[in-house]
This record gives sequence, C-alpha cells and structure tokens, in this order.
Amino acid sequence: MQISLAPMEGVVDHLMRDMLTQIGGYDLCVTEFVRVVDQLLPAKVFYRLCPELKQQGLTRAGTPVRVQLLGQDPVSLAENAVRAVSLGSHGIDLNFGCPAKTVNKSKGGAVLLKQTQGLYDIVSEVRRAVDKKHKVTAKMRLGFEDKALAIDNAMALEAAGADLITVHARTKVEGYKPPAYWDWIARIREHVRIPVVANGEIWSAEDALACQQQSHCQDIMLGRGALALPNLAQVIRGASPMSWEQVKQLLADYSGYEIYGDKGRYYPNRIKQWLGYLKRQYTQADALFEQIRTLKTAQQILPHLIGETGFKP
Ligand SMILES: Cc1cc2nc3c(=O)[nH]c(=O)nc-3n(C[C@H](O)[C@H](O)[C@H](O)COP(=O)(O)O)c2cc1C
Repeated sequence: MQISLAPMEGVVDHLMRDMLTQIGGYDLCVTEFVRVVDQLLPAKVFYRLCPELKQQGLTRAGTPVRVQLLGQDPVSLAENAVRAVSLGSHGIDLNFGCPAKTVNKSKGGAVLLKQTQGLYDIVSEVRRAVDKKHKVTAKMRLGFEDKALAIDNAMALEAAGADLITVHARTKVEGYKPPAYWDWIARIREHVRIPVVANGEIWSAEDALACQQQSHCQDIMLGRGALALPNLAQVIRGASPMSWEQVKQLLADYSGYEIYGDKGRYYPNRIKQWLGYLKRQYTQADALFEQIRTLKTAQQILPHLIGETGFKP
C-alpha cells in the first residue's frame, strides 16, 4: 500500500507537508496547484509553492514531492512541466478536478472533464515533453455534472500516456459532500491498466479499508482526513491515533515554523483553519478554537497550547 498526501490549496503547504511527513506514513506528497495560463513561469514561482525543490524535491523527512499543474493549454503545461522536473520535482501531476468557479471559467480544473479529447491533448503533450524517467500523473474527479464520462476520461488519460491516475470519487457538482463513490473507482480500474489511487472521504483506518475493498485499489490518497487526524497515515498502517496532548504539541511546534518561514499572520490563521479540521476527531478542538478565535499573534496563542500541560514548543 502506498499512501500519498493530497494537494490542498491554501491548506497543505510546505510547512504542513514537513510536519505531516515527519509524523510519517506517506510515500508521496503532491503540491497545491501551480496555475499555468499561457507562459513559462519563472523558477521562483515553483520555489515559492514547493521550497522542497531546493532539497532534491524531498521533505525533511525524505518524502518525495510532486508539483501539480493546473491549466488548459497543452503547450504551456508541457513547458512548465519540463521546468518543474528540471528544478527537482518528482514527476508532474495534472489537475482535472478543481471545482473553483474562477478556475473553471478559464477552462482549468474540473471543467476539463467535460471534454475527453482535451484531457488527452494535455496529457499527451506533457508526456511527450517530459523525460520518461519522470512520472506524469493525473488527478481527476468522476465528472463535472454527472459520471457519464468517468470511464472514457480515465481511458483517455491512460491512452495519452499518464503513468498513474488518482480518482477523487465525486463529481464537481458533488463537491466535498459525503459519500465518495468508491465503487466508481473500481469500475474505472476495470478499464485501465495503469495504477489507480483512490481518494475521497477517508477519515479513519476503517474508512481506508472500506475504500480499498470497494475501489479495488491498494493505494490511497488522504486529504482532509490527514489534517483531522495528523497521524492518520500511520493509523491506517496500524498505529494508535495521536492523543490530544500530542496534537497540541504539534500545534505549538507549528508556531516555531513561522519564525523561520517569516509569514506574518500566517500562524494564527492557519492554526484556526487547522482546528476546524481537528474538530472532527477531537472534541477539545472546538473549545480551543473558541479560546483563540480573536487572538492575532503566535505569542498570544501559545500559552493556550502549552499552558496546562507543561509542553514546550
Ligand atoms: C481546501 C482544499 C483545497 C484543495 N486543493 C486541491 C488542489 O490544489 N489540487 C487538487 O488536485 N485537489 C485539491 N483538493 C482536493 C483534495 O486533494 C482531495 O481530492 C479531496 O479533498 C478529497 O479527499 P478527502 O476527502 O480525503 O479530503 C482540495 C481540497 C480542499 C478541501
């Protein structure tokens, strides 16, 4: 079983990748998407989104990181893919799932699922341009409005030369609402030979098992569940869930990252966002959120994390 950490724009950045891969259990991370319109982006854009490129494309724990591109122009995507791998990305992932209106309006993300030929053109151009030693992978949803093209789209991705497909088992219209239709991933698997990774609605070891059974996939990708239970990948591999005290220590550790990351108000905002995910697994997260809701600096927030327990950041 391979477990990858999902791309999550505005949530899973390099600091979160660093923290979660240090906890362990991940074989691969995919970055937040890099938006490609019609030009070759400068190296600094890739370094900003994926500073791991400066360390052979690895997190500090040694987990490889793959840059994800989003766009609709095959030639520009191909040029940027070549640049990303030349900077050290472990392959290229192409986004065919983003539901954001602005992205879809400019014909990127999930809207591409309406046109099987468009998917084919993008993947084949990127595959042609990128050296075969680097993987070109695609992340798709089951469709835009409905699932009618799910299988055709997956087959087109394979025919175009994708090395692997990750399937987020919902349409764009289904958004992030449960359930995820894992059985649809099994249908896709029957029609393609390349590896398929199952994604969507895995919050626990039990979910992972059910997903594997219904999707007929061994390999899974974890998104929101990885934030709700920070050692979910290890839990799926047999470990016990982290205690709340350990989670608070992690939240405190995250403040240390800010000092080096120099991101201003980054920490307070991110910690509140993270607590939103943690609430799902830890009832204490709600109370902590209320305590820090109005606080604006790491210095104000830290005593709430280390106060009663004696933990030190
Ligand atoms: C806030 C947020 C940002 C996301 N950003 C991306 C992204 O940049 N690229 C992408 O392919 N998917 C993105 N996704 C989708 C996730 O990678 C994943 O497919 C989805 O959340 C389903 O998995 P989960 O149920 O385990 O969260 C995002 C999801 C969320 C909630």
